[in-house]
Amino acid sequence: MATAKILIVDDELELERLFKLRLRKNIRANEFELIFASNGQDALEKLQSDSLIDMVVTDINMPDMDGLTLLSKLKEINQNIKAVVVSAYDDLGNIRTAMNRGAFDFLTKPIDFDDLEITIKKTLNFVKQTRETLNQLQEMQTQMIQQEKMSAIGQLIASIVHEINNPVGFIASNIDFASEYIQDMLKLLNLYQQQFPNPGVEIQSTLQEIELDYLVSDLPEVISSMKTGTERIIDLSKSLRNFSRGNITNPVAFNIHEGLDSTLLIMKHRLKARKHSHRIEILKKYGSLPFVDCYPGQLNQVFLNIIANAIDALDDMAGEYSLEEMKVNYFTITLQTEVCADKDWVTIRIKDNGPGISTKVKEQIFDYLFTTKPLGKGTGLGLAISRQIVEEKHGGKLTCISTLGQGTEFIIELPRQQYYPSNQRKCDRVAAICGK
Ligand SMILES: Nc1ncnc2c1ncn2[C@@H]1O[C@H](COP(=O)(O)OP(=O)(O)OP(=O)(O)O)[C@@H](O)[C@H]1O
Ligand SMILES: [Mg+2]
Repeated sequence: MATAKILIVDDELELERLFKLRLRKNIRANEFELIFASNGQDALEKLQSDSLIDMVVTDINMPDMDGLTLLSKLKEINQNIKAVVVSAYDDLGNIRTAMNRGAFDFLTKPIDFDDLEITIKKTLNFVKQTRETLNQLQEMQTQMIQQEKMSAIGQLIASIVHEINNPVGFIASNIDFASEYIQDMLKLLNLYQQQFPNPGVEIQSTLQEIELDYLVSDLPEVISSMKTGTERIIDLSKSLRNFSRGNITNPVAFNIHEGLDSTLLIMKHRLKARKHSHRIEILKKYGSLPFVDCYPGQLNQVFLNIIANAIDALDDMAGEYSLEEMKVNYFTITLQTEVCADKDWVTIRIKDNGPGISTKVKEQIFDYLFTTKPLGKGTGLGLAISRQIVEEKHGGKLTCISTLGQGTEFIIELPRQQYYPSNQRKCDRVAAICGK
């Protein structure tokens, strides 16, 4: 367990030596680290500069700022810090006030150090449990936001796809008939032209007006481009449906490349609409991958988050370039996939040649709500959600390699098969049979 930091606030300097002496075993065992402040004001400053302090033990009567005032200001600095007040045995009035201001417990003077140790441990335990609960809540919240985001996007896409599919279906199935009917009519027209070579002035002038020869030669092109168009809409609708497969409760065998391609399609508008008129080129280095057991909708969301970040980073960099620099610098996002030597895992690498990430920022990028983007642009959820999906949902690994000035690479490693759900079901069944 990490060493707990305890701030002792007392104006009697002699107490510092005594605390250190009586708690020396805990200090030596790295259970506690003691920090001292001589009054409430001094304590506030130390708390402000050190966010890792876990609890405060404070006297009540002190110069500059007393312990009761310190208590009332504590919440503004950190909601989770707990304080224990030390007061004279019969000072019930102050003890009541301290408890009303949120003190966790109190000790009486002269301090019984055995009691102090028990109280400190009890308080630290409470702080630890509160933190764990908070973390769990945050994780649940992340999961809920992610699920909500996904199901909202998924539903929207699914309903659009549904609405597109029917009319496209009519067009696709009628184009072949239309082409056949037109051929028949052209055949008939040809016959008329042969049988009636002099059709009269009105027909002659209409023939010239509509440029019949050109029309006849262009018609096959028109029909073929209509066919290509509908085929593209059908592909798009397949990709969209593929992308939005979010409501699946069990893992399914999935073609990762289809996932990456449909994600790129969804992001086409972001890749095309360039504010600084630079081009982002997508380089695909796809290996030969087996199907992977996964939750496709969620995995696609990971691809989307990482590619969106790469586009943001490249856009930012382009904003700093002059037009000349832009001409000689290519912005690329490389998607590379490979199967690991033992064939049980696959790796997906998403790499950009953007600005890179500093060591300090890199330590925090997967943290919940961490963002370096301006308000309204980033929420700091993308990578936290992505790591949760890859590592907790799929038992995989999501890592980042980046050096400032040299681009960034995210590596997604996934097991080919999801053993966990079936094992879990097996365990559940065994537990049920054993009555556990
Ligand atoms: N390819 C990248 N290049 C440079 N910095 C990156 C890259 N990817 C992520 N980052 C950094 O990591 C931070 C966290 O990313 P994350 O996706 O979690 O949040 P966000 O993009 O800021 O907001 P959100 O994704 O919720 O809209 C980003 O703010 C950015 O500083
Ligand atoms: Mg992001």
